[in-house]
Amino acid sequence: MDNTKKDIILTGDRPTGNLHLGHYVGSIMNRLKFQSQGEYDKFYIMIADTQALTDNAERVDKVKNSIIQVAIDYLSAGIDPKKVTIFIQSMVPELFEMTSYFMNFVTVSRLQRNPTIKDEIKQRGFEKSIPIGFLNYPVSQAADILAFGTTIVPVGDDQLPMIEQTREIVASFNNIYKPSKQVFTLPKAYLPETEICRRLPGLDGKVKMSKSAGNAIYLKDDEKTVKEKIMSAYTDPNHIRVNDPGQIEGNIVFAYLDAFCKDEYFNKYLPDYKNLEELKQHYRKGGLGDIKVKLFLNNIIQDILRPIREKREYLSNHINDIYEMLFENSKNASIKAREVLNNMKEAMGINYYNLLK
Ligand code: TRP
Repeated sequence: MDNTKKDIILTGDRPTGNLHLGHYVGSIMNRLKFQSQGEYDKFYIMIADTQALTDNAERVDKVKNSIIQVAIDYLSAGIDPKKVTIFIQSMVPELFEMTSYFMNFVTVSRLQRNPTIKDEIKQRGFEKSIPIGFLNYPVSQAADILAFGTTIVPVGDDQLPMIEQTREIVASFNNIYKPSKQVFTLPKAYLPETEICRRLPGLDGKVKMSKSAGNAIYLKDDEKTVKEKIMSAYTDPNHIRVNDPGQIEGNIVFAYLDAFCKDEYFNKYLPDYKNLEELKQHYRKGGLGDIKVKLFLNNIIQDILRPIREKREYLSNHINDIYEMLFENSKNASIKAREVLNNMKEAMGINYYNLLK
């Protein structure tokens, strides 16, 4: 065994709009952590346009335009293109080829049991007729992961079933073809440490933060928009007068404080309290108004988003450079994926060049 070999990290997002705070705490924060630790061999971030099209076939323009938006979101949030290979899924054709073979290892009923797919079918009203491509995206996601020898996939918890599916595909492949040397590496999910960051609720308190639910704060939102959104966030409907005791559970403002607050923010913006626990105690007891807590949260979120916003302005004037970077990286990703695909075909016995004598 080669013990010096470091991890290969791969993750991605569908380009269907801008990234929001749910993406930030659910995945970008961990990406930045990996990036700064630097203990990896390769780090890929994939803009999953092919996957986005599986439920956006008629909205090509939305997907196409979101590619650059998502790339700008990554770069402005601090992803460094010198340390991380950001590429476009559809520009790596090997992924499609690999997906085709993987489809033979997975049954329709297995895909229909995937809990994330189940939720998404409901959300999209696909119950009566599911596009094959959509149902199949966990298989295509397995190719995304396996084509690069990925060992770690930093994601939110809705992606766990995809990693599970990927591991099953590896097991089936090994079982059927019994490769003499290892073709695929088993990937592991890497989740945010705190529960709240794995599934950040939306401003309405009903479901997780998402574009489609219209309950998100976007990385690109300006100062005024962010403040308005925070001031309208769902709190405790029974906390009517300041002196009423308030409830923390299900209170979105406190959920966000759990995700974003550090003790030093109290020093800076709310020195009457030492930490979040003290603030929560006061709220529970009564005598602490929602507005005060919301303004505190607003200060924190603005602190986080301000540098991101500033970088975005610069990047927005360098769109061409970003496209060039994406295209170049996609070419390199394709070369890497080709190696793994060749090994796979070799193991399956379908490398027909071997027939030439
Ligand atoms: N399914 C992911 C999402 O909805 C995007 C994605 C596609 C992905 N391929 C991936 C994530 C591979 C991690 C690894 O955001």
